[in-house]
Amino acid sequence: MKNDKQVGEAMLKDRYCMVTGASSGIGREIALGLAQRGAKVFMVCRDPGRGHAAQEYIWRQSGNSDIHLLMADLSVQDQVRMLAMDFMQQHGVLHLLVNNAGVIMGRRVLTADGIEMTFAVDYLSYFLLTNLLLGALRAGAPSKIVNMTTSLHRMAKLDLDNLQGEKSFSRDSAYARSKLAVVLFTYELARRLEGSGITVNCVCPGACSSGIWSQSSRTIDSFFHALMKGSEQGAVLPLHLACSSSVQGLSGRYFETKQHLKMSKVNVKGTESRSSAASYDKDAAATLWQMSERLTGLVGSA
Ligand SMILES: NC(=O)c1ccc[n+]([C@@H]2O[C@H](COP(=O)([O-])OP(=O)(O)OC[C@H]3O[C@@H](n4cnc5c(N)ncnc54)[C@H](OP(=O)(O)O)[C@@H]3O)[C@@H](O)[C@H]2O)c1
Repeated sequence: MKNDKQVGEAMLKDRYCMVTGASSGIGREIALGLAQRGAKVFMVCRDPGRGHAAQEYIWRQSGNSDIHLLMADLSVQDQVRMLAMDFMQQHGVLHLLVNNAGVIMGRRVLTADGIEMTFAVDYLSYFLLTNLLLGALRAGAPSKIVNMTTSLHRMAKLDLDNLQGEKSFSRDSAYARSKLAVVLFTYELARRLEGSGITVNCVCPGACSSGIWSQSSRTIDSFFHALMKGSEQGAVLPLHLACSSSVQGLSGRYFETKQHLKMSKVNVKGTESRSSAASYDKDAAATLWQMSERLTGLVGSA
């Protein structure tokens, strides 16, 4: 019987795959896993030094030289537009988009576009980049979108009046709210893309010790981080969604691993889960979509 990697090799050979936030953590390991399966990988990174280091790491570990670096700060909408435009002009086809970039902000910081940073990177960049690349994903159909979220989305209410922490801000609620927005976006996009040959799902990779927790200075957090699994294990479930024939054709679903600790092996079986009740609110998803169009100035989205 073929294992997940062998099936992935058959499905991903020479396929155009883009991963955002590929300079470190789980994104770098997802990019490596795709490279090991023979894909043509486009790594979206914001820092040239970290981007080149990650590219070299993937070249070395995979022996695949078809790994490309695309520079963009995803908190800046003009850079997201430029990234998508360049990619459309140069390649025009995409088989897999993994929206993975993420931050957790200790305080409320606004982006160059005047949008709260967590919301801008962890959700709005997914919305904008995906919509701008839909033409390439249509050209590559059957194609896939994998959005990174977290089980912590269950702690959030959408709260459309405080979407960007305008009224009150806390690190954890800003992160949870942005990731709830990712789940709502995934379900709404799946409804809009029905029959298009493009599938979209979201995934919580489980807790991993990675750079995203660097904004935390709490001693209890460093204690938990010492026990958490590494980014390589965090990439297992997203890679399964990207490669496995067992999820072929599934769309608008949420997957979650409950294996968080270093010593536990990530098992992909039975990971399709129910997300929070709030995430199934179709009216909220439609309103969020309209607000996201307004915030990004996007016209003619999916
Ligand atoms: N780690 C966990 O426990 C956990 C659990 C559930 C879900 N997740 C999700 O998994 C995803 C990956 O997180 P991670 O744990 O691997 O964190 P990480 O190691 O901090 O990686 C985050 C990646 O996003 C990039 N990034 C951040 N802001 C960016 C921007 N403005 N423009 C472009 N790239 C940007 C970072 O680039 P730099 O290298 O330049 O900083 C980095 O490559 C996130 O969406 C996160 O919410 C993580």
